[in-house]
Amino acid sequence: MKKNLLNELKNECLGCKKCPLGETRINIVFSDGNPETAKAILIGEAPGENEDKTGTPFVGRAGKLLNEFLEKAGISRAQDLYIINTVKCRPPKNRVPTDEEKTACEDYLLKQIEIISPKVLIFCGATALKSFYDKKIQISKIRGEILELEIGGEKRKCIPIFHPSYLLRYHSLDEGSPRDLMLKDLKKIKKLMDA
Ligand code: URA
Repeated sequence: MKKNLLNELKNECLGCKKCPLGETRINIVFSDGNPETAKAILIGEAPGENEDKTGTPFVGRAGKLLNEFLEKAGISRAQDLYIINTVKCRPPKNRVPTDEEKTACEDYLLKQIEIISPKVLIFCGATALKSFYDKKIQISKIRGEILELEIGGEKRKCIPIFHPSYLLRYHSLDEGSPRDLMLKDLKKIKKLMDA
């Protein structure tokens, strides 16, 4: 059922030229994960080079690191999550998507959330957080907090977490380090998903 609705939406998206990214992309990067069993949606920023080539989100270096963290937290990428981005096409040179690009893609994002209607939304990085929350807030100040926000017609539990690209720069696992906090946040998310 969800799959049919998502396929319709994906077909709409495939020919999309609502913003300039439609001219430079190789592939639309629509989603990954199992829409029927997902308990949470993880929202990243935008596809990078590997994602653009393959059509799948989070398959490059950042994606591999994300996979490692998910595994450590006991979250199955394939069954527990539906993974998407704020924009479906790669911005040239991996720059941050513009407000115009995010606005053009917003309907697809909101419809994906409405169709999956998950218990939990994970804002993975500042771009996803700022698409739904105060633009001035810093991810480091709010990560790990459970926010109750009305999105796609319903109140949902939303948790901001660090983006894995940020973690690629910090290797320490010490208490309070970015990697330590990421694992703690994902374990908290796992509990929320299973509650
Ligand atoms: N970074 C993102 O935010 N999303 C991807 O799909 C890949 C890298």
